[in-house]
Amino acid sequence: MKRIMKSAMLGLPVILLLTGCGKYATVSYEKDIKPIINKHCVECHLKGGKGNVASGFLVESYDSLMKGTKFGPVIVAGDPLSSSLYRLVAGEVDKSIQMPHGKAPISTKEISTIERWIEQGAKNN
Ligand code: HEC
Repeated sequence: MKRIMKSAMLGLPVILLLTGCGKYATVSYEKDIKPIINKHCVECHLKGGKGNVASGFLVESYDSLMKGTKFGPVIVAGDPLSSSLYRLVAGEVDKSIQMPHGKAPISTKEISTIERWIEQGAKNN
C-alpha cells in the first residue's frame, strides 16, 4: 500500500510536466475553443440537434456555452474538475455519457486546451 502511494506521488510531477507544456500560454475562446466545438460538437448541439433536444445544451455562442443545459451551467470558470463539460470530454465519466456521444474521444491536446481555458477563467477572449 505504502509503495503504491509512493509511486503515485513520484508519478505526479511527471504527469504535470507532460500536460504542462504551454501551460502559461493564454487559451483563446475564438481561436482555440471554437474550432474544437465546431469540429466535434455542432453536429448534435445546434438548435434541433439531438444533444440540444435531449439536454437543452447549445454550442452556437459563448453565451450559450456558459448557460449550459436546461438544468444549469456545465462550465465552472476556474475549475475544470467541477465543470461537467470538461469531465464529459475528458473521459472521466462512464463511456455511455462521454462526449462526443457515441464517438471516439477528442484528442488529448484538445482536452487539455479545454482544461486550460476553463482554468484560466473560461473567458470570452
Ligand atoms: C452524436 C451526437 C452528439 C455529439 C457529437 C455531442 N453530443 Fe453532447 N449530448 C448528446 C446527447 C444525446 C446528450 C443528452 C444525453 C446525455 O446527457 O448523455 C448530450 C448532452 C451533453 C451535455 C449535457 C450533459 C448533462 O449534464 O446533462 C453536455 C455538456 C454535452 N453534451 C457536451 C458536448 C460537447 C462539449 C461535445 C463536443 C465535444 C458534444 N457534447 C458532442 C449528443 C452529442
